[in-house]
Amino acid sequence: MTDGAPRRPIGMALTAHHEGFRDDPHPIYDALRSHVPRHHDPDYGRILLTRYDDVRRVLRDRNYGVDARRTREDSYMRRVAGTGVRERSGDTAYEPPLVLLDDPGHRRIRKLMAKAFEPRAVEAMRPHIEAMAAELLDALDGVTRANFISTYAGPIPTRAILEMMGLHDACVDDFKRWSEATLMGYDPHRGADAQGRLREAFLAMARVFREAVEERRAAPRDDLISAMVRAQEAEDRLTDLEIVSLCTQLMVAGNVTTSDLIGNGLHALLTHPEQLARLREDPACIDAAVEEMLRFDCPITETARIPFAADQIGDCPVQRGDTITASLAAANHDPHVFADPHCFDIDRDSSGHLGFGSGIHVCLGASLARLECRIALTAFLRRFPALRLDPERAPERRRLPFFRGFTSLPVLLA
Ligand code: HEM
Repeated sequence: MTDGAPRRPIGMALTAHHEGFRDDPHPIYDALRSHVPRHHDPDYGRILLTRYDDVRRVLRDRNYGVDARRTREDSYMRRVAGTGVRERSGDTAYEPPLVLLDDPGHRRIRKLMAKAFEPRAVEAMRPHIEAMAAELLDALDGVTRANFISTYAGPIPTRAILEMMGLHDACVDDFKRWSEATLMGYDPHRGADAQGRLREAFLAMARVFREAVEERRAAPRDDLISAMVRAQEAEDRLTDLEIVSLCTQLMVAGNVTTSDLIGNGLHALLTHPEQLARLREDPACIDAAVEEMLRFDCPITETARIPFAADQIGDCPVQRGDTITASLAAANHDPHVFADPHCFDIDRDSSGHLGFGSGIHVCLGASLARLECRIALTAFLRRFPALRLDPERAPERRRLPFFRGFTSLPVLLA
């Protein structure tokens, strides 16, 4: 950086593979934001943005896209976007996900999906989510130490999506495992083993979804897969492959991310006892608390955009086809927008945070994720008034770029 500043980190040092970055990326983001806010990372072939204004602008600028095929072969975007499933299997389960589709394909599919995720449709999920939380809490009756992730934060979002899809009998553990395996597609350092598990997971999920599509076509029900099948009969039809791919995406996009929000949120509360006390005293603060959790420790730390033409981001020229990585986590801690940004404060105004992105790709499942997190944390705190971190077992963070969360969060319940 400038004289006296630390060396510019690149490549793996800017991912959760690096211990220091995994534990707390903010000292590095702060230094980059101050010294090189548009940071060229030659190792990963990308430009990393850390200022809120740059990040928000690029996410909302229609002259930037997301289709990895528009970027260079060796770019970071290509390395993380390819699953290898399409190339290696005749029985393909892979279509570019919505989040990697440009218009007109993006507009068409987003429109067809949007209705299912409108606040009213999501609100109808409330009793189901409350029942799931209660059932998981009952299973913890008499237990004094637990891993919050595996026993509680993990299963709720998987069950919620399966419920929306009408797959009541599907095995939650299988889907959780397949979703985790699929995330490896976002790791540029994944080896052949991980690639193999990723491919198997895609194909296994596709088999279940394809069967469900056949069943709904024969006998429609009141669920999301039936709604997608009905959309096939409309003018702007979805193909079977698109439906299967959308189901896979919803499973992956909405599952681990939401578990991570619930886990990161509880961790923030337990490490800031005064904030926990404040929430216990006034549980109605939960909505604001969840927004602050999304700002303070957001589950998706980065996303990427590709300029359609040469452009300028601040003082940094960018070329058509470059990979621009926009750090949502760094933007959410920009002191020009959020005063005292590293302070977790559920009473602050966190609106404008970029935890769900911004612009045309803004998270489709944001209302669902918010509802799940509010219900899950409220119910857990109510059930365990003496809840605290387990002093004998340290929490563990996932070692994967983009998806920031805990694989293990040990707590004492009594
Ligand atoms: C706390 C949990 C979640 C977080 C932090 C999160 C975060 C995000 C972010 C940052 C994006 C935008 C990526 C970009 O602009 O490149 C996104 C897009 C998306 N999310 Fe979420 N998400 C969460 C939960 C969910 C849920 C529950 C679902 C659905 C079940 C979901 C479905 C999607 C879809 C389909 C997109 C792509 C939208 C598009 O490209 O138009 N997400 N999410």
